[in-house]
Amino acid sequence: MSTDFLPINGTDYIELYVGNAKQTAHYYKTAFGFQSFAYKGLETGSTDSVSYALKQDKIVIVLTTPLKQGGEINEHINKHGDGVKVVALWVDDATKSWEETTKRGAKSYLEPIREDDDNGYVIKSGIHTYGDTVHVFIERKNYKGIFLPGFVESKSDYNPKPVGLKYIDHMVGNVDWGEMNTWVEFYEKVMGFSQLVSFDDKDISTEYTALMSKVMSNGNGRIKFPINEPAEGKKKSQIEEYIDFYNGAGVQHIAVATDNIIETVKQLKARGVEFLYVPTSYYDDLLDRVGPIEEDLKPLKELGILIDRDEDGYLLQLFTKPIVDRPTMFFEIIQRKGAKSFGKGNFKALFEAIEREQEQRGTL
Ligand code: FE2
Repeated sequence: MSTDFLPINGTDYIELYVGNAKQTAHYYKTAFGFQSFAYKGLETGSTDSVSYALKQDKIVIVLTTPLKQGGEINEHINKHGDGVKVVALWVDDATKSWEETTKRGAKSYLEPIREDDDNGYVIKSGIHTYGDTVHVFIERKNYKGIFLPGFVESKSDYNPKPVGLKYIDHMVGNVDWGEMNTWVEFYEKVMGFSQLVSFDDKDISTEYTALMSKVMSNGNGRIKFPINEPAEGKKKSQIEEYIDFYNGAGVQHIAVATDNIIETVKQLKARGVEFLYVPTSYYDDLLDRVGPIEEDLKPLKELGILIDRDEDGYLLQLFTKPIVDRPTMFFEIIQRKGAKSFGKGNFKALFEAIEREQEQRGTL
């Protein structure tokens, strides 16, 4: 077993480029229970763009909007709509992370740079991954500030309660036809990840939709990136629909973990978050399929929560509808009860639910 050349402590933050960060921040606070904690914008001397950093337990989401015409952020929004630009990874040595990955073939996004303020310094570096998405390495061991240099603490009188979201469980990338293995190899060779599980279109297909998927994980297992590729089906696959509307590869969903999915989903629904609808027949033979579970079936059925089991235990999960106008990015809410997998047993029921939505959009 060789040593991990890219040790990662966890996800540092997810940054989305959006058309209107102020209103998007309001949505993440109101609907998902994130709390304002850091800000940069005109008032802090940031004249080109404005960013709101929001937090819920270990999850940090940054929403960034340009303040002027032209430039990289506007181009990103024009091409992709609102979407994830940066998946930032928390490391102890951002310079070494950049050196080790670029030497193995990663395309540099940001050469190691030191940013200082009164609270110390942060070293940042970055590499490109699929589509226009990037990984930024954040070394913050010499920094005591609220978030990152350039940000100031943001206080708001409007703080809807958190809904129990704890940490990012996994983040899924959709890549174009024939590209899955290229990106699997990228995570293996360039970032030292290994493959956890794979399933192909024979495993996951409905009458119409099909996909192939491989799950890549880093050395300590804290980072899990499933990579999806469309597969041939009778009609257009949901992955292909994503690629069409996002204009290429990108982050498809962010799975966030909770310790109490029933309470979390109740809260989210009460706050207007829309979830994929699974027919109640899903629950008819559920216990035959997954065996005994600790939860009452009734609230699970009422809320449409899905259950799957693997050799290590079971998991409960539920998927939102896309949270943007283009049928691109969505969230998954997941509670693990031992299971280490990703809900393969639910994919068929889930895809059929997505197809009903695609049919309404005329994109099936
Ligand atoms: Fe997922």
